[in-house]
Amino acid sequence: MKRKVLAANWKMNNGPTAAKSFMEEFLRGYKSREDRTVIIFSPAVSLTAVSSAIAGRRDVLAGVQNIYWAEKGAFTGETSAPMAADAGATIVLVGHSERRHVFGESDAQCARKCQAAAKAHLRFMLCLGETIEQREAGETESLVRRQLRDGLSQTPNLISADFMIAYEPVWAIGTGLTASAADASAIHGVLRGELRQMIGTRADEIPILYGGSVNPGNAAGLLAADDIDGLLVGGASVEASSWLKIAQA
Ligand code: PGA
Repeated sequence: MKRKVLAANWKMNNGPTAAKSFMEEFLRGYKSREDRTVIIFSPAVSLTAVSSAIAGRRDVLAGVQNIYWAEKGAFTGETSAPMAADAGATIVLVGHSERRHVFGESDAQCARKCQAAAKAHLRFMLCLGETIEQREAGETESLVRRQLRDGLSQTPNLISADFMIAYEPVWAIGTGLTASAADASAIHGVLRGELRQMIGTRADEIPILYGGSVNPGNAAGLLAADDIDGLLVGGASVEASSWLKIAQA
């Protein structure tokens, strides 16, 4: 049985104090399930608050929202993969839409980040998805195939690498517009097919998550759709009460 992955992306919310209270409230309410993995992608400064709250649990993971590819050195303001691991992260988000569109991150940079995460023995979740203009121009499928191939192009031993994919249409992030379950499933199918060409049947084990305006009301329907292995949730994951409903949807 494939575990569903429920991932919270707090974005720039929940510093260490808020993270500690969130985790207390969430862990008090959350009933562990054999068939689910929960990930909390916190800001780097809150990683230890999250990782110490979940110490010893295997069903809830601490993740970091971004890394830089160098291991250390003169890169003011950045966090390396080994540093995130030292603070308790076991998974890294790479290429989130806001990294690409607010901070100008390219597919080549995403590829280096995936490579750095793998080198530090961290899992990674590569995010991709089209803008509304690309969607209207009929470019979605070719774009997501290219983002997938380019993003994974530097990962060593891809066939045995531990990673996930998150399909997040840019027009659905933080807008209240959600892709229909059928539309999201169709793109997940495209990504799965591309992954099969790259890594054969191992592709079937790679979780492909959907993200974009997921909330407590639409989570169960999306989770039930074909080939949607989990959800990556931004705005509705910042408060523990809302996140609890989604994690248990
Ligand atoms: P949203 O964000 O749930 O607020 O749309 C999703 C994401 O950015 O990962």
